[in-house]
Amino acid sequence: MAILPLRYHPDPVLHRKAKRVNNIDGPVQKLIDDMIETMHDASGVGLAAPQIGISLRLAVIEIPPPDSIGPIVLINPEIVSRTGEREVEEGCLSLPGFRGNIKRSVNVVVKAKDRYGKEFKVKSDGLLAEALEHELDHLNGILYIDHMKEGETPHKIEPVEDSRDGEED
Ligand code: NI
Repeated sequence: MAILPLRYHPDPVLHRKAKRVNNIDGPVQKLIDDMIETMHDASGVGLAAPQIGISLRLAVIEIPPPDSIGPIVLINPEIVSRTGEREVEEGCLSLPGFRGNIKRSVNVVVKAKDRYGKEFKVKSDGLLAEALEHELDHLNGILYIDHMKEGETPHKIEPVEDSRDGEED
């Protein structure tokens, strides 16, 4: 496994729609393992392939304790439904040191393939719902700053050392 270098806004790969994964082959399996390791190293709750410069519809999510969900591997994920609206303060590993307030859904249902090619559905709320919307956005070239109200900008945060309190995806 390897820790992969992250791409940062305004890298064009972050602003481009990613391509579907056609074959879940050996290189994709290695990529999944490397993405999980990279997410852990960066203390992120999620990572999408464009964030390491690979324009494929692939993302990983892991929700820290106490919920402790995942790692979930999402290949070619799609939103099945989303309901409700709530305000969240969001961060992103591709925009380090900043957070911004945006609207996200309350309940999100996503379907995807897992790393074995099996289709599954995940029903979510809370941080998992937020992470799912955030990572699926990455696959469509959308960053959370694209959801901010006109005239609003992300605010600077103090660096958080070796902690997942930042909840960056
Ligand atoms: Ni992100």
